[in-house]
Amino acid sequence: MMVRFVLLLAFLFWLQAPPGCHGRSSSSPDVSYSILIDAGSTGSRMYVYKFKLGSDGKVNNVSDVEELDNSLGKVKPGLSSMLNEPDEIEVYLQKFFDEAERIVPKDKQSSTPFIVLATAGMRLLPEADQDVIMTKVKEILKSRTTPFLYKDGNVKVISGKEEAIFAWITVNFIQGVLTSQKKQKVSWGVLDMGGASTQNAMHRYRGSPHSTNLKVGQRNYQLFARSYLDMGVARIHDRFLEFLSAWENKTVDYEGYIKSPCHHEGYDEVFDVGAESGIDIVGEPNSDLCRKLIDDMLFNKVGSGFDDQPQLKGKLVAFSAFHTVIDRIGAVVCDDKPVTVEQIGCAARKFCSKPYKVVKAIDEGYGKFTCLWGNYVYELLRQGYKMPQSKKIFVQKEMKGYSLSWIMGAVLYKAELL
Ligand SMILES: *[C@@H]1O[C@H](CO)[C@@H](O)[C@H](O)[C@H]1NC(C)=O
Ligand SMILES: *[C@@H]1O[C@H](CO)[C@@H](O)[C@H](O)[C@H]1NC(C)=O
Repeated sequence: MMVRFVLLLAFLFWLQAPPGCHGRSSSSPDVSYSILIDAGSTGSRMYVYKFKLGSDGKVNNVSDVEELDNSLGKVKPGLSSMLNEPDEIEVYLQKFFDEAERIVPKDKQSSTPFIVLATAGMRLLPEADQDVIMTKVKEILKSRTTPFLYKDGNVKVISGKEEAIFAWITVNFIQGVLTSQKKQKVSWGVLDMGGASTQNAMHRYRGSPHSTNLKVGQRNYQLFARSYLDMGVARIHDRFLEFLSAWENKTVDYEGYIKSPCHHEGYDEVFDVGAESGIDIVGEPNSDLCRKLIDDMLFNKVGSGFDDQPQLKGKLVAFSAFHTVIDRIGAVVCDDKPVTVEQIGCAARKFCSKPYKVVKAIDEGYGKFTCLWGNYVYELLRQGYKMPQSKKIFVQKEMKGYSLSWIMGAVLYKAELL
């Protein structure tokens, strides 16, 4: 059976369930709106927020944030694929303008920031090409086509590190850390993962090229914030297959299929990965060996990128693909109960020992990757983030009913609402 493994495309469907409608509405006159377009690699998604403002013009409590529904969903293709059709960009953006004008009351439109932030897909383009696209977007926003508020810094390609910082803002805003008037509350560290990269951020860290001073309201926060490219779930699967097929101690079955310790009993498939075509894999699960290979591939070498990654400490929450994977292997019990690193390792081992037919019956699309992903997440926490077995982390998709991602933090920060 020949299957083309299409990297990010299919993935984003799986990761990005459409956001729900949250919060409560307000009839107060001190209300403002903000619009953010998340311009990802395979499409763009619009988020419209309504905020109830305090007397200082800021948002002081997450209960004053409402994410409004819009009917667009993901608009394809990604903005990054429109390099050679700059005129199309206007048509493309018009869909968002029309929908936003329908949602935001007329008298609020000129004071509503229209923010466009591009992520991984755009970062893959040469800078000159990014500029062509983003300049066109700016021109359109500045023109009279749209009634919304335009600001130069609100239309840009953000780095993985900025994604990490915005995710940190989201969580710490929801928890009231950023808005507490009295003594400062203990902050949360964040772990985020997509198809292509993985991010982490925590407070109270100095003395690294990856530390950043973040000013929010009257306070300064010294953050460690970092994104690791090629360490998201989709990339890890491809990288693992390439690594395995080049491993000097690999063994093959009687049909010449390479035995993979990170896939289930009864599983076999032929993959095309990058330039290599036809990597034949057969599952022979062995979590110890699977973890050794992951370590050799990612962590057991100089220049792995994790040399100057500090140990992640304190209160931590892991979301997005972390949540999906840890949930699929059966380690998430409920959102308000943290799990230990040891429990994640144990659940991954148990999941991998299931026959493939059982896994397939439950999750036909992604079940086959989850054994590798479970062991990868465990090794990332242990070797990459240096957590002891007993370390507890919260693993959740939402917090107080709000989806966890970089989006809300980016809106609050860019619209200067904190
Ligand atoms: C936000 O408001 C709710 C009730 O409206 C309150 O219970 C909660 O403590 C407030 N949170 C913060 C961080 O002030
Ligand atoms: C291959 O196996 C030999 C013998 O067990 C071992 O010494 C060597 O380190 C292995 N190589 C790799 C790359 O795992």
